[in-house]
Amino acid sequence: MKALWLKRRIGVGLENLREEARFRQIPDLDRGADRLLVHGGRRYLNLASNNYLGLAGHDSVRRAAVNAAEEYGASSGASRLITGTYFLFGELEAELAEFKECEDALVLGSGYAANLAILSSLADRHTVVFSDRLNHASIVDGIKLSGAKQVRYRHNDMDHLAACLKRHADAPRKVLVTDSVFSMDGDVAELERIVELCARHDVAVAVDEAHGAGVFGRGRGLAYELGVAGYIDVHMGTLGKAFGSHGAYVAGDRTLIDWLRNAARPFIFSTALPPATVGASLAAVQLIKDRPEFGGRVLAMAERVRRVCRALGLDTGGSVTQIVPVILGTNERALHGQELLREKGVWAGAVRPPTVPGGSSRLRLCLRADLTDDDMILLESALTHLAAGLERETPCL
Ligand SMILES: Cc1ncc(COP(=O)(O)O)c(C=O)c1O
Repeated sequence: MKALWLKRRIGVGLENLREEARFRQIPDLDRGADRLLVHGGRRYLNLASNNYLGLAGHDSVRRAAVNAAEEYGASSGASRLITGTYFLFGELEAELAEFKECEDALVLGSGYAANLAILSSLADRHTVVFSDRLNHASIVDGIKLSGAKQVRYRHNDMDHLAACLKRHADAPRKVLVTDSVFSMDGDVAELERIVELCARHDVAVAVDEAHGAGVFGRGRGLAYELGVAGYIDVHMGTLGKAFGSHGAYVAGDRTLIDWLRNAARPFIFSTALPPATVGASLAAVQLIKDRPEFGGRVLAMAERVRRVCRALGLDTGGSVTQIVPVILGTNERALHGQELLREKGVWAGAVRPPTVPGGSSRLRLCLRADLTDDDMILLESALTHLAAGLERETPCL
């Protein structure tokens, strides 16, 4: 490295991360979206991926990806507004708009880009954005990019939200943004109460269904399950999680989507998704439409796992979805817990700050619809091993 100050700064940063057991390394593994992933020559039951419905490996999704690549090649070659558009995009966006019961939809390169696009084109320095404290990092970054005033309300605390809305009642432009399913806690936003409060204060509502779509509301998302979809201005969801592909969408009124096509910089200034991905997404949306029972299956599995955890004295927080955290506290305990599960052949992520608040490090278990009965038995025995191991000791790592 050439600049001395940079060398010093990075050196100190890395040292701090190592001291606090927060140094991240990309794991050496293979087939990370599959039910069974491979690490160090051994197979593990994969409970760390967001491939909740197992669609990434589904025959019709794979075939659609291959067919699209054969038809259109490997790349879109440019941004959508230049020459990056091809026929499949139109089909996918029409399919998504119909699925989400909205006038129009726009596909973007990733969920991260979609949140940046939504917030930076709907909010500016004259806007107040109300945001749940546990919202995803891409929402936090989107608000920063917009230059809006950010008002963070305590997680799922509707009294606090009401007080914040009241305090900013005179602001001329207001947006509320929330995850529907919180990715590290597996709990859900109180969308009924949120839309009611926002309607009273003329606040636009944007909901990120990254972890709700595909699973809740016959695949349409939590807002549909709760019957409040019609009150939401901006529906965002990802295609790289339950849909088993990659990218994201925004659905809403035609004028909203027209505005995003014109104002959303992450859409305008980025190469469009490649054909294989768009083809796969189209097949996945059609599959989920035809098989609305997928979500119920994964939710039933998660309920069974929470029951097992409760019986073992493991804390699953407020989880009510396919994401089941096992909250262990310190980084060291989370890493030890991860090792204990691996000893039994189960792969789950140890999630630590800054992804979750300090002192709430955890294992994040993501259930998936393609687990077999034997997999569930293995998982239960691994959780028993985890509880016993944690009780015995938590070594200083
Ligand atoms: C709530 C939420 N929104 C957005 C994203 C970003 O989506 P993507 O991975 O497609 O960039 C994630 C990813 O984990 C997420 O959990």
